Amino acid sequence: MSVAKKEYKRVTTKSLVEMKSNGEKISMLTAYDFTMARIVDGAGTDVILVGDSASNVMAGHETTLPITLDQMIYHASSVVRAAKRALVVVDLPFGSYQSDPKEALRSAIRIMKESGGHAVKVEGGKEIKESVKRILNAGIPVMGHLGLTPQSIYKFGTYTVRAKEEEEAEKLKQDAKMLEKAGCFAVVLEKVPAKLAKEVAESITIPIIGIGAGNGVDGQVLVTHDMLGMTHEFNPRFLRRYLNLYDDMTSAMKQYCDDVKAVDFPNENEQY
Ligand code: KIV
Repeated sequence: MSVAKKEYKRVTTKSLVEMKSNGEKISMLTAYDFTMARIVDGAGTDVILVGDSASNVMAGHETTLPITLDQMIYHASSVVRAAKRALVVVDLPFGSYQSDPKEALRSAIRIMKESGGHAVKVEGGKEIKESVKRILNAGIPVMGHLGLTPQSIYKFGTYTVRAKEEEEAEKLKQDAKMLEKAGCFAVVLEKVPAKLAKEVAESITIPIIGIGAGNGVDGQVLVTHDMLGMTHEFNPRFLRRYLNLYDDMTSAMKQYCDDVKAVDFPNENEQY
């Protein structure tokens, strides 16, 4: 059941908590550049995530591990220039916050100062509790990320569903509560059973944004390039493709190449 949408001129971390308490679902999509962010923002998406998935999507790496803090700042500053309404959340990349809380704070400050982003996102639970607290103490809003955390892919070994076993599910519940208590404004839950995700969403007051976590949570996030069908090698069950841009763009480009070869482009109206 959908709930009446309240108009927000600018979505803030507070708006998201308000949406949860009003039963309004939160929409979140990724963007890494100005042009895409302008479309995502103009479509009325509540949150734009400058995800470290830029490492895969923009740079072609196999994992999210190689992307650097400087690269994240570059992507985020382009997105911030386009976002007029959405809250812009920026991933702290692998290696920029795990080693110690002081380094975590320095990295988060660089994101906020140099990109103009509105919040940071970090992956993990109790292992990074002190870093989360240190960043929050400096007045920087933090979004958590639990379940399948791609920065730990070499620990997991695969991208399959997480927390199917009781022990991991229990830890996830405790981590979500810890992140709420520490002061995070929201948590992403990636690739966990829908029943568990619903239980977690119902047990805490901050929004749970799901990806592959069913519809019992407070909002959804997808990688924009996946939902537009610009990528075609990635086909998880949770992904709904709204367009097939890979094929559409390929045929447009083929047509352009044919037109150039045939001296059909440019025509008389397309020149000076
Ligand atoms: O980096 C990213 O795009 C993400 C989403 C998949 C949640 O973390």
